[in-house]
Amino acid sequence: MCSCNCEQPLVPSIVEVIDIVDETPDVRSFYVKCSEGGVPYSVQPGQCSMLSLPAGEGMFSCTWQEGNEYQHYAIKKVGLLTEELHSIEIGQKLGIRGPYGNGFPVEACKGKDMLFIAGGIGLAPLRSFIKYCFKHRDDYGKIDILYGSRSYADLCFKDELFNLWPQEKNTQVYVTIDNAEPEWDGHVGFVPSYLEELNPNPNGKIAVTCGPPIMIKFVLQSLEKMGYIDDQVITTLEMRMKCGIGKCGRCNVGSQYICVDGPVFTRTQLRQLPQEW
Ligand code: FES
Repeated sequence: MCSCNCEQPLVPSIVEVIDIVDETPDVRSFYVKCSEGGVPYSVQPGQCSMLSLPAGEGMFSCTWQEGNEYQHYAIKKVGLLTEELHSIEIGQKLGIRGPYGNGFPVEACKGKDMLFIAGGIGLAPLRSFIKYCFKHRDDYGKIDILYGSRSYADLCFKDELFNLWPQEKNTQVYVTIDNAEPEWDGHVGFVPSYLEELNPNPNGKIAVTCGPPIMIKFVLQSLEKMGYIDDQVITTLEMRMKCGIGKCGRCNVGSQYICVDGPVFTRTQLRQLPQEW
């Protein structure tokens, strides 16, 4: 019998860290799997898991990938729990439960051109959807990826950004950093400004965005200015998720619980919520 508790979603399964990769000075990738091999559950792009350590537990975006050999989490150091996570080593056991959240509407977006707009660690959840699109490449039209971070060092997933994704069919990758640096000869400026500079035509396109709340706010405004209607715009508010099961009351915005009604929402749905998100 499997020891990973996959039949009891509120009881953490135990997984082992099999690899750790530094993405940036404060973002680290963790690869985990069950000791018997495989993973306790599969996820859809945009879904999250609760990871637990003796120091506590926290909700993190789980990367979608083909197959269930392992799970991947890209985690930014922002507090006590993530500091503890950044101190663990390969072989460490973690509690894990999920999946939580509705995920991105990958089926409804089929046949559309896709515009992904991310800032900082916000690329982690969008990367799941991007990977899904590349795996099902003929189901989607043109793919544009716009990503920005504070500095070159803070750009996550550089190999994909600069080497792998630009080689994909009918795909364009745009990268920007906030401030000029001697060794950077790419675009400099904030993500919303670069978006307006690029001015991607909204016809037949779905825009998906994730990043710091202030970036999301300005990206939504920019998209509106450029003619994107509300149903063409999707974001994820996963950073608001705490317990993930509608119990702690820490994620509700108006009548909605981000954790059970989201975290993925269209702009149309967001308009119906108080501006507290
Ligand atoms: S995260 Fe606890 S109620 Fe939503």
